[in-house]
Amino acid sequence: MENAFCHVPVLAEEALTFIRPQSGGIYIDATVGGGNHAAMILERSSPEGFLLGIDRDAEALTAAAKKLAPYQGRFVLVSGNYADMAALAEGQGIEAADGILLDIGVSSRHLDAPERGFSYMQDAPLDMRMDQSSGRSAAELVNEESAETLTRILFEFGEEKWAKRIAEFIVSARAIKPIDTTGELVAIVKQAIPKGAREKDQHPARRTFQAIRIAVNNELSALDIGLDAAISLLRPGGVIAVISFHSLEDRIVKTKLKHHATDCICPPRTPVCLCHHRADLKLLTRKPVTAGSEELMANPRSRSAMLRAAQKL
Ligand SMILES: C[S@@+](CC[C@H](N)C(=O)[O-])C[C@H]1O[C@@H](n2cnc3c(N)ncnc32)[C@H](O)[C@@H]1O
Repeated sequence: MENAFCHVPVLAEEALTFIRPQSGGIYIDATVGGGNHAAMILERSSPEGFLLGIDRDAEALTAAAKKLAPYQGRFVLVSGNYADMAALAEGQGIEAADGILLDIGVSSRHLDAPERGFSYMQDAPLDMRMDQSSGRSAAELVNEESAETLTRILFEFGEEKWAKRIAEFIVSARAIKPIDTTGELVAIVKQAIPKGAREKDQHPARRTFQAIRIAVNNELSALDIGLDAAISLLRPGGVIAVISFHSLEDRIVKTKLKHHATDCICPPRTPVCLCHHRADLKLLTRKPVTAGSEELMANPRSRSAMLRAAQKL
């Protein structure tokens, strides 16, 4: 495959309308992936805009380097977790940015490459790590965690109604043989959820796979920490734009941006403000921006995308 990351970037025009790349500006793409959004930022900030691209997936950085080759000298790519954005930016001598983009979650490449173990559609080793150089794989997680922890993961990160039963089936299955592949996990989930109770038009393992992926990659805590880091890196007037793909992520983005856009956060009916909290953001979106009909037709993956943006005061 030439560039398996080469997909149409989601909500790109909308995100760039908020970021407004300018020549001379400094931009951070904290989830550079295949470099599609990044290429647009570099193009529109020609001739002198600069971009720091971050990704925790080595294959993504290789693909991004190829895609961004025409802008040589105007970007740097670093391997790392966007939760460490402040240190990663500082390492490149960047003290403040004019625009920061986060397009979170998995890439098309993750889902399309069976060997990465993200997909319930293809049988492969159960991995799901975005950074394959460290951390526990999905197989280790499902074979090691207690039924209680697995239930919590499936319920909290997958909003799976059958969490407890799936966790019990996982524990029974692994007592006979370790669960090593995506196919084995799919089969267990199918046994656990009665046929008549399955969601219409949804694969029965979709929620389980989402939950385990989020747990393996610590996605929600990285997002929470990464958003704070991004907001503090923005210079006054700079813009943060975040594209998320499910309600759990969007809730974190919404809450965080709202918190930063609020002055006093004292409990209601406190007579005088004691918190002295001051807003450092202005919301640019009250509701998430979603894909228009044209994009929905061209790119089915844009269906669940939600964009929120805010400007540093
Ligand atoms: C949806 S893709 C981004 C696609 C990209 N916007 C493009 O135009 O090609 C999300 C990327 O974020 C990366 N990622 C997810 N969580 C991350 C984190 N905590 N730190 C760094 N990269 C992360 C994934 O490895 C993946 O490559």
